[in-house]
Amino acid sequence: MKFVVLNGSPRETNSFTYQYLRYIETNFPMHDFIVHHIGRKIKKIENDQEYFDSILKIIKGADGVIWLYPVYIQLIPSQLKRFIELVFERKKQSSFKGKNATSISTSGKFYDHLAHYYIQAISEDFGMNYSRGYSAEMMELMKKDERIRLRKFFMQFVNNCENKTETAKYYSPFVFDYPIYKPTKINDNPKTKNYKVTILTDTTETDVSLNNMINTFVKLMPCEVTVVNINEADIKGGCLGCLKCAPENICFYPDGYMEIFKQQVIAANALVYAFKTQDRYFSSQMKIHFDRAFFNGHRPVFTGQQQAYFVSGPLRQMPILREAIEGMSEVGRANLVGIVTDEYADSKIITNLIQNIIDGMLWGIEHDKYAGPKTFLGVGGHKVFRDLIHTYQIVFPQDYSYYKKEKLFDWPKIFFGQFSFILKPLMRFSSFRKRFFAMSGKYQTRLFDKVIKKEVSNLQDQ
Ligand SMILES: Cc1cc2nc3c(=O)[nH]c(=O)nc-3n(C[C@H](O)[C@H](O)[C@H](O)COP(=O)(O)O)c2cc1C
Repeated sequence: MKFVVLNGSPRETNSFTYQYLRYIETNFPMHDFIVHHIGRKIKKIENDQEYFDSILKIIKGADGVIWLYPVYIQLIPSQLKRFIELVFERKKQSSFKGKNATSISTSGKFYDHLAHYYIQAISEDFGMNYSRGYSAEMMELMKKDERIRLRKFFMQFVNNCENKTETAKYYSPFVFDYPIYKPTKINDNPKTKNYKVTILTDTTETDVSLNNMINTFVKLMPCEVTVVNINEADIKGGCLGCLKCAPENICFYPDGYMEIFKQQVIAANALVYAFKTQDRYFSSQMKIHFDRAFFNGHRPVFTGQQQAYFVSGPLRQMPILREAIEGMSEVGRANLVGIVTDEYADSKIITNLIQNIIDGMLWGIEHDKYAGPKTFLGVGGHKVFRDLIHTYQIVFPQDYSYYKKEKLFDWPKIFFGQFSFILKPLMRFSSFRKRFFAMSGKYQTRLFDKVIKKEVSNLQDQ
Protein backbone atom coordinates (compact mmCIF):
# COMPACT_ATOMS: atom_id res chain seq x y z
CA MET A 1 0.00 0.00 0.00
CA LYS A 2 1.03 3.59 -0.51
CA PHE A 3 0.94 5.91 2.50
CA VAL A 4 1.46 9.61 2.40
CA VAL A 5 2.99 11.01 5.57
CA LEU A 6 2.47 14.66 6.44
CA ASN A 7 5.27 15.45 8.86
CA GLY A 8 4.39 18.53 10.89
CA SER A 9 7.61 18.68 12.86
CA PRO A 10 9.83 21.58 11.85
CA ARG A 11 12.73 19.34 12.89
CA GLU A 12 12.21 17.27 9.76
CA THR A 13 14.20 14.00 9.88
CA ASN A 14 15.81 14.92 13.22
CA SER A 15 12.42 14.94 14.82
CA PHE A 16 11.49 12.52 17.59
CA THR A 17 8.21 11.81 15.89
CA TYR A 18 9.91 10.95 12.63
CA GLN A 19 11.79 8.13 14.41
CA TYR A 20 8.44 6.47 15.10
CA LEU A 21 7.75 6.52 11.39
CA ARG A 22 11.20 5.10 10.65
CA TYR A 23 10.42 2.27 13.03
CA ILE A 24 7.18 1.55 11.18
CA GLU A 25 8.89 1.77 7.78
CA THR A 26 11.48 -0.76 8.89
CA ASN A 27 8.85 -3.13 10.22
CA PHE A 28 6.52 -2.86 7.25
CA PRO A 29 8.87 -2.98 4.24
CA MET A 30 6.06 -4.23 2.02
CA HIS A 31 4.48 -0.73 2.06
CA ASP A 32 5.57 2.57 0.51
CA PHE A 33 5.81 5.71 2.62
CA ILE A 34 6.02 9.06 0.88
CA VAL A 35 6.96 11.71 3.40
CA HIS A 36 6.32 15.44 3.07
CA HIS A 37 8.12 17.60 5.59
CA ILE A 38 5.32 20.12 5.91
CA GLY A 39 6.62 21.63 9.15
CA ARG A 40 9.96 22.46 7.58
CA LYS A 41 8.82 23.45 4.11
CA ILE A 42 5.70 25.45 4.89
CA LYS A 43 7.01 28.69 3.38
CA LYS A 44 7.80 26.95 0.08
CA ILE A 45 4.45 25.15 0.19
CA GLU A 46 2.67 28.46 0.69
CA ASN A 47 4.59 30.41 -1.95
CA ASP A 48 5.11 27.79 -4.62
CA GLN A 49 1.72 26.71 -5.94
CA GLU A 50 3.22 23.96 -8.10
CA TYR A 51 4.91 22.42 -5.10
CA PHE A 52 1.68 22.58 -3.11
CA ASP A 53 -0.21 20.96 -5.98
CA SER A 54 2.38 18.20 -6.28
CA ILE A 55 1.84 17.27 -2.61
CA LEU A 56 -1.90 17.22 -3.11
CA LYS A 57 -1.50 15.00 -6.17
CA ILE A 58 0.44 12.46 -4.13
CA ILE A 59 -2.20 12.57 -1.40
CA LYS A 60 -4.86 11.89 -4.02
CA GLY A 61 -3.02 8.80 -5.21
CA ALA A 62 -2.33 7.40 -1.72
CA ASP A 63 -4.12 4.57 0.06
CA GLY A 64 -3.84 6.19 3.47
CA VAL A 65 -2.85 9.47 5.09
CA ILE A 66 -0.67 9.60 8.20
CA TRP A 67 -0.54 12.86 10.11
CA LEU A 68 2.82 12.82 11.87
CA TYR A 69 3.38 15.63 14.35
CA PRO A 70 4.73 16.73 17.68
CA VAL A 71 2.21 18.31 20.02
CA TYR A 72 2.94 22.04 20.22
CA ILE A 73 1.04 24.02 22.83
CA GLN A 74 -1.94 21.70 23.07
CA LEU A 75 -2.23 21.33 19.30
CA ILE A 76 -0.14 20.75 16.21
CA PRO A 77 2.70 23.12 15.24
CA SER A 78 1.67 26.39 13.59
CA GLN A 79 3.32 25.24 10.34
CA LEU A 80 1.10 22.18 9.97
CA LYS A 81 -1.91 24.28 10.93
CA ARG A 82 -1.00 26.66 8.10
CA PHE A 83 -0.93 23.74 5.66
CA ILE A 84 -4.46 22.79 6.74
CA GLU A 85 -5.57 26.39 6.26
CA LEU A 86 -4.09 26.38 2.75
CA VAL A 87 -6.05 23.24 1.88
CA PHE A 88 -9.26 25.02 2.93
CA GLU A 89 -8.32 28.35 1.31
CA ARG A 90 -7.44 26.67 -1.99
CA LYS A 91 -10.46 24.38 -1.74
CA LYS A 92 -8.44 21.19 -2.09
CA GLN A 93 -10.29 19.07 0.48
CA SER A 94 -11.36 16.71 -2.30
CA SER A 95 -7.77 15.42 -2.59
CA PHE A 96 -8.26 13.74 0.79
CA LYS A 97 -11.84 12.60 0.32
CA GLY A 98 -12.69 8.99 1.09
CA LYS A 99 -9.20 8.08 2.33
CA ASN A 100 -8.40 6.46 5.62
CA ALA A 101 -6.30 8.59 7.92
CA THR A 102 -4.67 8.45 11.31
CA SER A 103 -2.19 10.31 13.51
CA ILE A 104 1.12 9.52 15.10
CA SER A 105 2.31 12.10 17.59
CA THR A 106 4.99 12.50 20.20
CA SER A 107 4.78 14.84 23.14
CA GLY A 108 5.19 15.12 26.88
CA LYS A 109 1.53 14.01 27.04
CA PHE A 110 0.40 17.47 27.98
CA TYR A 111 -2.95 18.07 26.27
CA ASP A 112 -1.96 15.67 23.50
CA HIS A 113 -5.59 14.59 23.31
CA LEU A 114 -6.62 18.01 21.98
CA ALA A 115 -4.17 17.75 19.10
CA HIS A 116 -5.61 14.35 18.26
CA TYR A 117 -9.20 15.56 18.51
CA TYR A 118 -8.35 18.48 16.25
CA ILE A 119 -6.70 16.30 13.61
CA GLN A 120 -9.66 13.94 13.73
CA ALA A 121 -12.04 16.87 13.22
CA ILE A 122 -9.99 18.20 10.30
CA SER A 123 -9.74 14.73 8.76
CA GLU A 124 -13.51 14.49 8.92
CA ASP A 125 -13.85 17.97 7.41
CA PHE A 126 -11.65 16.73 4.55
CA GLY A 127 -14.04 13.80 4.08
CA MET A 128 -11.69 11.13 5.42
CA ASN A 129 -12.28 8.10 7.61
CA TYR A 130 -10.16 8.73 10.66
CA SER A 131 -8.88 5.89 12.84
CA ARG A 132 -7.90 6.72 16.41
CA GLY A 133 -4.31 7.95 16.44
CA TYR A 134 -1.19 6.93 18.32
CA SER A 135 0.02 9.36 20.97
CA ALA A 136 3.50 8.50 22.22
CA GLU A 137 5.51 10.07 24.98
CA MET A 138 8.61 11.21 23.13
CA MET A 139 11.00 8.54 24.49
CA GLU A 140 8.49 5.69 24.44
CA LEU A 141 10.05 4.04 21.41
CA MET A 142 12.87 2.89 23.69
CA LYS A 143 10.44 0.55 25.46
CA LYS A 144 9.83 -2.87 24.00
CA ASP A 145 6.16 -3.04 25.01
CA GLU A 146 5.50 0.30 23.37
CA ARG A 147 7.17 -0.82 20.15
CA ILE A 148 4.91 -3.86 20.10
CA ARG A 149 1.93 -1.60 20.67
CA LEU A 150 3.04 0.66 17.81
CA ARG A 151 3.36 -2.26 15.42
CA LYS A 152 -0.10 -3.52 16.35
CA PHE A 153 -1.51 -0.04 15.95
CA PHE A 154 -0.09 0.19 12.47
CA MET A 155 -1.33 -3.28 11.51
CA GLN A 156 -4.83 -2.14 12.42
CA PHE A 157 -4.48 0.99 10.35
CA VAL A 158 -3.25 -1.00 7.34
CA ASN A 159 -6.26 -3.22 7.80
CA ASN A 160 -8.58 -0.21 7.79
CA CYS A 161 -6.96 1.13 4.63
CA GLU A 162 -7.16 -2.23 2.86
CA ASN A 163 -10.83 -2.60 3.72
CA LYS A 164 -11.55 1.11 3.22
CA THR A 165 -13.23 0.94 6.61
CA GLU A 166 -15.85 3.57 7.23
CA THR A 167 -15.29 5.14 10.65
CA ALA A 168 -17.71 6.86 13.02
CA LYS A 169 -17.84 10.65 12.66
CA TYR A 170 -17.50 12.79 15.78
CA TYR A 171 -17.71 16.31 14.42
CA SER A 172 -20.52 18.12 12.60
CA PRO A 173 -20.08 20.92 10.11
CA PHE A 174 -20.57 24.38 11.62
CA VAL A 175 -23.73 26.37 11.54
CA PHE A 176 -23.11 30.07 12.11
CA ASP A 177 -25.96 32.43 11.60
CA TYR A 178 -25.33 35.53 13.65
CA PRO A 179 -25.21 39.14 12.53
CA ILE A 180 -22.07 41.25 12.69
CA TYR A 181 -21.57 42.80 16.11
CA LYS A 182 -22.42 46.49 15.66
CA PRO A 183 -22.66 48.33 18.96
CA THR A 184 -24.59 51.55 19.20
CA LYS A 185 -22.52 54.53 20.24
CA ILE A 186 -20.07 53.59 22.98
CA ASN A 187 -18.82 56.40 25.16
CA ASP A 188 -15.13 56.70 25.91
CA ASN A 189 -14.73 56.10 29.61
CA PRO A 190 -12.26 58.42 31.32
CA LYS A 191 -8.95 56.61 31.88
CA THR A 192 -8.84 56.97 35.64
CA LYS A 193 -7.03 53.76 36.51
CA ASN A 194 -3.42 52.93 36.01
CA TYR A 195 -3.36 49.22 35.21
CA LYS A 196 -1.50 47.60 32.38
CA VAL A 197 -4.01 46.11 29.97
CA THR A 198 -3.09 44.41 26.71
CA ILE A 199 -5.09 43.01 23.83
CA LEU A 200 -3.24 40.48 21.73
CA THR A 201 -4.92 39.97 18.39
CA ASP A 202 -4.46 38.84 14.82
CA THR A 203 -7.40 40.83 13.56
CA THR A 204 -7.53 42.17 10.02
CA GLU A 205 -9.60 44.94 8.45
CA THR A 206 -12.26 42.47 7.33
CA ASP A 207 -12.91 41.10 10.84
CA VAL A 208 -15.61 43.65 11.53
CA SER A 209 -17.22 41.98 14.56
CA LEU A 210 -13.87 41.38 16.20
CA ASN A 211 -12.65 44.92 15.55
CA ASN A 212 -15.86 46.25 17.05
CA MET A 213 -15.41 44.05 20.13
CA ILE A 214 -11.87 45.33 20.55
CA ASN A 215 -12.96 48.96 20.13
CA THR A 216 -15.79 48.57 22.62
CA PHE A 217 -13.39 47.15 25.18
CA VAL A 218 -10.81 49.88 24.60
CA LYS A 219 -13.44 52.59 25.03
CA LEU A 220 -15.16 51.14 28.08
CA MET A 221 -12.02 50.14 29.97
CA PRO A 222 -11.17 52.89 32.46
CA CYS A 223 -7.45 52.62 31.73
CA GLU A 224 -5.20 52.77 28.69
CA VAL A 225 -5.20 49.60 26.60
CA THR A 226 -2.31 48.51 24.38
CA VAL A 227 -3.39 46.61 21.29
CA VAL A 228 -0.70 44.31 19.92
CA ASN A 229 -1.53 43.00 16.47
CA ILE A 230 0.73 40.04 15.81
CA ASN A 231 0.26 40.48 12.06
CA GLU A 232 2.13 43.75 12.34
CA ALA A 233 4.66 42.67 14.96
CA ASP A 234 8.27 41.82 14.23
CA ILE A 235 7.86 38.02 14.35
CA LYS A 236 10.03 36.21 11.83
CA GLY A 237 8.40 32.80 11.90
CA GLY A 238 7.04 29.84 13.82
CA CYS A 239 8.86 27.88 16.50
CA LEU A 240 11.39 25.46 14.98
CA GLY A 241 11.53 23.22 18.04
CA CYS A 242 15.31 23.61 18.21
CA LEU A 243 15.27 23.90 22.03
CA LYS A 244 18.10 26.43 21.90
CA CYS A 245 15.91 28.41 24.28
CA ALA A 246 15.90 25.74 26.98
CA PRO A 247 19.13 26.53 28.89
CA GLU A 248 18.55 30.28 29.28
CA ASN A 249 15.02 30.94 28.05
CA ILE A 250 16.29 32.93 25.09
CA CYS A 251 14.87 32.29 21.62
CA PHE A 252 17.41 32.18 18.78
CA TYR A 253 15.18 34.21 16.42
CA PRO A 254 16.57 37.75 16.08
CA ASP A 255 13.15 39.41 16.15
CA GLY A 256 10.84 41.32 18.45
CA TYR A 257 8.84 38.40 19.82
CA MET A 258 10.53 37.98 23.22
CA GLU A 259 10.17 41.68 23.91
CA ILE A 260 6.45 41.62 23.11
CA PHE A 261 5.94 38.58 25.27
CA LYS A 262 7.78 40.00 28.26
CA GLN A 263 6.67 43.64 28.03
CA GLN A 264 3.11 43.32 26.79
CA VAL A 265 1.90 39.81 27.53
CA ILE A 266 3.39 38.70 30.85
CA ALA A 267 3.62 42.17 32.34
CA ALA A 268 -0.07 42.95 31.83
CA ASN A 269 -2.44 43.00 34.80
CA ALA A 270 -5.17 42.09 32.35
CA LEU A 271 -4.81 40.39 29.00
CA VAL A 272 -7.35 39.84 26.25
CA TYR A 273 -6.76 37.46 23.38
CA ALA A 274 -8.93 38.55 20.45
CA PHE A 275 -9.19 36.41 17.35
CA LYS A 276 -11.45 35.04 14.68
CA THR A 277 -11.77 31.28 14.52
CA GLN A 278 -10.16 29.60 11.56
CA ASP A 279 -11.21 26.06 10.69
CA ARG A 280 -11.68 24.55 14.16
CA TYR A 281 -9.25 26.66 16.14
CA PHE A 282 -7.60 30.06 15.98
CA SER A 283 -5.36 30.97 13.08
CA SER A 284 -1.88 29.61 12.45
CA GLN A 285 -0.68 33.20 12.84
CA MET A 286 -2.03 33.26 16.40
CA LYS A 287 -0.60 29.79 16.89
CA ILE A 288 2.85 31.15 16.04
CA HIS A 289 2.51 33.40 19.08
CA PHE A 290 1.59 30.54 21.40
CA ASP A 291 4.29 28.23 20.02
CA ARG A 292 6.96 30.88 20.27
CA ALA A 293 6.02 31.44 23.93
CA PHE A 294 7.70 28.08 24.51
CA PHE A 295 11.00 29.97 24.88
CA ASN A 296 9.74 30.95 28.30
CA GLY A 297 9.66 27.33 29.42
CA HIS A 298 7.06 25.65 31.60
CA ARG A 299 6.77 28.28 34.30
CA PRO A 300 3.32 29.52 35.31
CA VAL A 301 4.14 33.14 34.55
CA PHE A 302 0.56 34.37 34.38
CA THR A 303 -0.18 33.91 38.07
CA GLY A 304 -3.05 36.18 39.01
CA GLN A 305 -3.30 37.76 35.57
CA GLN A 306 -6.88 38.57 34.61
CA GLN A 307 -7.49 37.01 31.20
CA ALA A 308 -10.34 37.09 28.73
CA TYR A 309 -10.96 35.95 25.19
CA PHE A 310 -12.91 37.71 22.47
CA VAL A 311 -13.74 35.21 19.78
CA SER A 312 -15.43 35.87 16.49
CA GLY A 313 -16.89 32.62 15.22
CA PRO A 314 -18.80 29.53 16.34
CA LEU A 315 -16.87 28.78 19.55
CA ARG A 316 -19.92 27.05 21.05
CA GLN A 317 -19.37 24.36 18.43
CA MET A 318 -15.64 24.13 19.12
CA PRO A 319 -15.13 22.11 22.30
CA ILE A 320 -11.45 21.57 21.45
CA LEU A 321 -10.62 25.26 21.34
CA ARG A 322 -12.74 25.90 24.40
CA GLU A 323 -10.85 23.31 26.43
CA ALA A 324 -7.52 24.63 25.19
CA ILE A 325 -8.44 28.14 26.34
CA GLU A 326 -9.54 26.99 29.76
CA GLY A 327 -6.54 24.70 30.14
CA MET A 328 -4.09 27.43 29.15
CA SER A 329 -5.48 29.84 31.72
CA GLU A 330 -5.58 27.27 34.47
CA VAL A 331 -2.11 25.88 33.88
CA GLY A 332 -0.78 29.43 33.61
CA ARG A 333 -2.50 30.16 36.98
CA ALA A 334 -4.32 33.09 35.46
CA ASN A 335 -7.90 34.03 36.18
CA LEU A 336 -10.12 33.33 33.20
CA VAL A 337 -12.59 36.17 33.63
CA GLY A 338 -14.58 35.07 30.62
CA ILE A 339 -14.93 34.40 26.94
CA VAL A 340 -17.10 36.64 24.80
CA THR A 341 -18.08 35.54 21.32
CA ASP A 342 -20.19 37.15 18.63
CA GLU A 343 -22.75 34.33 18.76
CA TYR A 344 -25.63 36.61 19.74
CA ALA A 345 -28.40 38.06 17.63
CA ASP A 346 -28.46 41.26 19.67
CA SER A 347 -25.33 43.42 19.75
CA LYS A 348 -26.44 44.95 23.05
CA ILE A 349 -25.83 41.62 24.76
CA ILE A 350 -22.26 41.51 23.49
CA THR A 351 -21.60 45.05 24.71
CA ASN A 352 -22.95 44.08 28.15
CA LEU A 353 -20.77 40.97 28.21
CA ILE A 354 -17.70 43.05 27.38
CA GLN A 355 -18.61 45.40 30.22
CA ASN A 356 -18.89 42.35 32.52
CA ILE A 357 -15.41 41.30 31.47
CA ILE A 358 -14.06 44.74 32.34
CA ASP A 359 -15.81 44.68 35.72
CA GLY A 360 -14.49 41.18 36.40
CA MET A 361 -10.95 42.12 35.45
CA LEU A 362 -10.92 45.22 37.63
CA TRP A 363 -12.41 43.28 40.51
CA GLY A 364 -9.76 40.58 40.13
CA ILE A 365 -6.90 43.09 39.97
CA GLU A 366 -8.23 44.91 43.01
CA HIS A 367 -8.76 41.73 45.03
CA ASP A 368 -5.17 40.48 45.27
CA LYS A 369 -5.10 39.17 41.70
CA TYR A 370 -7.95 36.77 42.34
CA ALA A 371 -7.74 33.51 40.40
CA GLY A 372 -10.49 30.90 40.50
CA PRO A 373 -9.82 27.34 41.64
CA LYS A 374 -8.33 24.88 39.21
CA THR A 375 -10.20 21.95 37.71
CA PHE A 376 -8.65 18.82 36.30
CA LEU A 377 -7.37 20.94 33.41
CA GLY A 378 -5.09 22.95 35.68
CA VAL A 379 -4.35 20.30 38.30
CA GLY A 380 -3.58 17.57 35.77
CA GLY A 381 -1.64 19.98 33.56
CA HIS A 382 0.55 21.06 36.46
CA LYS A 383 1.33 17.48 37.43
CA VAL A 384 2.36 16.58 33.91
CA PHE A 385 4.63 19.64 33.76
CA ARG A 386 6.05 18.97 37.20
CA ASP A 387 6.98 15.40 36.29
CA LEU A 388 8.36 16.50 32.93
CA ILE A 389 10.61 19.17 34.45
CA HIS A 390 11.81 16.69 37.03
CA THR A 391 12.55 14.07 34.37
CA TYR A 392 14.20 16.45 31.90
CA GLN A 393 15.91 18.74 34.43
CA ILE A 394 19.15 18.64 32.45
CA VAL A 395 17.38 19.95 29.35
CA PHE A 396 15.36 22.60 31.20
CA PRO A 397 17.69 23.86 33.96
CA GLN A 398 15.93 27.24 34.29
CA ASP A 399 12.55 25.61 34.70
CA TYR A 400 14.01 23.17 37.19
CA SER A 401 15.47 25.95 39.38
CA TYR A 402 12.21 27.87 39.18
CA TYR A 403 10.12 24.84 40.15
CA LYS A 404 12.42 24.21 43.10
CA LYS A 405 12.41 27.83 44.23
CA GLU A 406 8.65 28.20 43.93
CA LYS A 407 8.01 24.81 45.55
CA LEU A 408 6.27 23.51 42.45
CA PHE A 409 7.66 20.01 42.97
CA ASP A 410 4.67 19.44 45.20
CA TRP A 411 4.77 15.66 45.36
CA PRO A 412 1.72 14.22 47.13
CA LYS A 413 1.80 13.80 50.88
CA ILE A 414 0.18 10.91 52.67
CA PHE A 415 -3.09 11.86 54.27
CA PHE A 416 -2.82 11.35 58.08
CA GLY A 417 0.91 12.12 57.91
CA GLN A 418 2.92 10.32 60.59
CA PHE A 419 -0.21 8.58 61.90
CA SER A 420 -0.33 6.55 58.72
CA PHE A 421 2.56 4.42 60.03
CA ILE A 422 0.35 3.32 62.91
CA LEU A 423 -2.88 3.29 60.94
CA LYS A 424 -1.60 1.18 58.05
CA PRO A 425 -0.97 -2.01 60.10
CA LEU A 426 -4.11 -1.43 62.17
CA MET A 427 -6.24 -1.18 59.03
CA ARG A 428 -5.51 -4.84 58.32
CA PHE A 429 -7.94 -5.73 61.14
CA SER A 430 -11.57 -5.64 60.11
CA SER A 431 -12.74 -4.61 63.60
CA PHE A 432 -10.43 -1.58 63.45
CA ARG A 433 -11.48 -0.74 59.90
CA LYS A 434 -15.14 -0.76 60.96
CA ARG A 435 -14.47 1.66 63.82
CA PHE A 436 -12.25 3.78 61.62
CA PHE A 437 -14.88 4.30 58.94
CA ALA A 438 -17.63 4.77 61.54
CA MET A 439 -15.63 7.60 63.09
CA SER A 440 -14.19 9.08 59.92
CA GLY A 441 -17.29 11.18 59.14
CA LYS A 442 -17.15 12.80 62.59
CA TYR A 443 -13.39 13.30 62.30
CA GLN A 444 -13.76 15.06 58.96
CA THR A 445 -16.50 17.31 60.27
CA ARG A 446 -14.41 18.23 63.31
CA LEU A 447 -11.45 18.95 61.05
CA PHE A 448 -13.51 21.32 58.92
CA ASP A 449 -15.29 22.79 61.98
CA LYS A 450 -12.04 24.32 63.14
CA VAL A 451 -11.43 26.30 59.96
CA ILE A 452 -15.07 27.10 59.30
CA LYS A 453 -15.56 28.71 62.71
CA LYS A 454 -12.23 30.50 62.57
CA GLU A 455 -12.79 31.90 59.07
CA VAL A 456 -16.33 33.06 59.80
CA SER A 457 -15.13 35.14 62.73
CA ASN A 458 -12.18 36.44 60.69
CA LEU A 459 -14.41 37.57 57.85
CA GLN A 460 -16.78 39.28 60.28
CA ASP A 461 -13.82 41.13 61.78
CA GLN A 462 -12.77 42.50 58.37
C1 LIG B 1 6.98 24.92 20.90
C2 LIG B 1 6.77 23.62 21.61
C3 LIG B 1 5.58 23.39 22.22
C4 LIG B 1 5.34 22.18 22.86
N1 LIG B 1 4.13 21.97 23.43
C5 LIG B 1 3.85 20.78 23.98
C6 LIG B 1 2.57 20.53 24.54
O1 LIG B 1 1.67 21.36 24.54
N2 LIG B 1 2.36 19.31 25.07
C7 LIG B 1 3.33 18.36 25.13
O2 LIG B 1 3.06 17.30 25.66
N3 LIG B 1 4.55 18.56 24.59
C8 LIG B 1 4.83 19.75 24.02
N4 LIG B 1 6.06 19.97 23.46
C9 LIG B 1 7.04 18.87 23.44
C10 LIG B 1 7.04 18.16 22.09
O3 LIG B 1 5.75 17.72 21.75
C11 LIG B 1 7.95 16.95 22.13
O4 LIG B 1 9.23 17.32 22.48
C12 LIG B 1 7.96 16.23 20.79
O5 LIG B 1 8.45 14.93 20.99
C13 LIG B 1 8.83 16.92 19.76
O6 LIG B 1 8.75 16.17 18.58
P1 LIG B 1 9.63 16.42 17.30
O7 LIG B 1 11.06 16.22 17.69
O8 LIG B 1 9.13 15.39 16.35
O9 LIG B 1 9.38 17.80 16.82
C14 LIG B 1 6.34 21.17 22.87
C15 LIG B 1 7.57 21.42 22.26
C16 LIG B 1 7.79 22.63 21.63
C17 LIG B 1 9.11 22.89 20.98
